[in-house]
Amino acid sequence: MFTLFKRKKEAAPVNMDKIPAHIGIIMDGNGRWAKKRLQPRVMGHKAGMDALQEVTIAANNLGVKVLTVYAFSTENWSRPEDEVKFIMNLPVEFFDKYVPELHKNNVRVEVIGETERLPKETFDAMKRACEQTKYNSGLILNFALNYGGRSEITHAVKEIAQEVLDAKLNPGDITEDLIANHLMTNHLPYLHRDPDLIIRTSGELRLSNFLPWQSAYSEFYFTPVYWPDFKTEELHKAILEYNRRHRRFGGV
Ligand code: FPP
Repeated sequence: MFTLFKRKKEAAPVNMDKIPAHIGIIMDGNGRWAKKRLQPRVMGHKAGMDALQEVTIAANNLGVKVLTVYAFSTENWSRPEDEVKFIMNLPVEFFDKYVPELHKNNVRVEVIGETERLPKETFDAMKRACEQTKYNSGLILNFALNYGGRSEITHAVKEIAQEVLDAKLNPGDITEDLIANHLMTNHLPYLHRDPDLIIRTSGELRLSNFLPWQSAYSEFYFTPVYWPDFKTEELHKAILEYNRRHRRFGGV
């Protein structure tokens, strides 16, 4: 069994049997990270991309199957126009600068969210990243881009209601599984659609409309570290903490 030891004083092993298969990350604190360095907010997003690259490769090396990252929420459009423009250009930079290394590491890129409302260049860059990596069998780097959890559930309800109207479905046949099949995470491996662990950086203690259905039994890890400073060692700390949790899924 592969074990990983924390470098400093206590050598707490990360038990590979308890590596979370699906990790969700709310990458928060980019703006504050930049402000602390007297830099424009967008520099925080740039540094956040580097952190994401390192964490993705580290997670893939540990055997994590899915990493869902909150890159842009449906509420983020209310940010200053320049910042939105900058974030919308990140996928283009992502494709040119980061995808080649991810591809070499067998990482598959996927996207969830209302992608049809993204600017064309943003949409095209993400599509190319997905296309180029679609046969990779390593970690799935699942971007939540223009994603909102309530909107996702609303959309699922509309689809199910339509199936009932069309007499393809009886209301009595609606199960949790059926609802999950109408959510945007339905493309993920069946056993790993829901995050085992959700990490939020920068000290904020909320979910902010990120995977509200899928997080019903997730473990939560909050850290004051700003996202650009969240690197491999911080990921290991989060997994060590996850190893201490006893997941009961409502049982005893
Ligand atoms: C939150 O920090 C971060 C974001 C809204 C954007 C995060 C995006 C990335 C790290 C890169 C995504 C990559 C691709 C390819 C789309 P914040 O700005 O809310 O920070 P603050 O709370 O300190 O202001």
